Amino acid sequence: MSKKIILGIESSCDDTSAAVISDGYILSNIVSNQKVHQQFGGVVPELASRAHQQNIIPVVDTAIKNAGINKEDLSAICFTQGPGLLGSLLVGSSFAKSFALGMNIPLIAVNHMQGHIMAHFIKEKRNEIKSPKFPFLCLTVSGGHTQIVLVKSVEDMTVIGETLDDAAGEAFDKSAKILGLPYPGGPLIDKFGKHGNKHKFIFGKHKVGELNFSYSGIKTAFTNFLKKQKDSTFITKNLNDLCASLQYSLVQIILNKIQKAAKDYNIKQVVIGGGVAANSEIRIQLKNKAKSEGWEVFLPPQHLTTDNAAMIGIAGYFKIQKNNYGSISDSAMSRLKI
Ligand code: KG4
Ligand code: ZN
Repeated sequence: MSKKIILGIESSCDDTSAAVISDGYILSNIVSNQKVHQQFGGVVPELASRAHQQNIIPVVDTAIKNAGINKEDLSAICFTQGPGLLGSLLVGSSFAKSFALGMNIPLIAVNHMQGHIMAHFIKEKRNEIKSPKFPFLCLTVSGGHTQIVLVKSVEDMTVIGETLDDAAGEAFDKSAKILGLPYPGGPLIDKFGKHGNKHKFIFGKHKVGELNFSYSGIKTAFTNFLKKQKDSTFITKNLNDLCASLQYSLVQIILNKIQKAAKDYNIKQVVIGGGVAANSEIRIQLKNKAKSEGWEVFLPPQHLTTDNAAMIGIAGYFKIQKNNYGSISDSAMSRLKI
């Protein structure tokens, strides 16, 4: 059987990405971050679509060149159909459709969240990545999403818990903004938090039931706590402890929910994806839980947990194996569900 060489395209938020996957192995995975949003403290949708338009051709071109293939070698093109910012999704999906039509090869629409989950099945030649076995729980924590998904097979995924307001990364970024840190503030809270005392401050209790999440309470408690401080240099003097304590509270919410889910569904394999999976506190806590709860935890490398097109390519690769092809009428959908 000839090799399946797939081009993946991801443009759901503020990263333009293209990847080439050959029979499940990454040949290239190019991600172009958009710096234009930094000055606004968050992603500006209109600017994101414009930047995608500028980036999409050079990014795809580089992915094909770096993979050492010609575009004629491609067997299929996969693109992110949703969820995400509609204008951003439209750039990637329109490009993918035109390219597939021009090359006369199949087109496959991929759900972004399924891509995050399937990222755990990507193979890298230089780096052996261990994949989970079905069934497992996937915690997807990023700037746009916070979900716990019960994954029974490639085709059987159920969201069993999700955020009722902000996503975990959004909670990190908004809190960082309150501290006067630039966007995206999540990595900075992590950086400063490493030198602070995580038990110095307590920012309220999480009260949402079942497996759902809410970050609005903790954000309000954090804002009110800072407003109460009379010393105008309080943040500067306590930055490390504030970051460590806030990070601890945000991570604790995630940990408690995944622990409940593992118990409720009697599952001992936990995988994590999304930008917040890079957080050092969540990684430490998950490893500790793995020991105390007897879990096997899968923490893939950071370049595969943040938004990237290799995860879209691999999800498409599994769809092709089930003959699950898409069509030119698969339109971008900002609120696509798993
Ligand atoms: O998955 P991702 O790259 O894009 C989205 O789909 O949103 O995730 C980006 C999010 C941002 O909110 C960023 O602040 C957060 O991931 N993030 C972190 C860390 N690295 C990235 N949050 C906490 N600690 C980190 N080390
Ligand atoms: Zn994502």
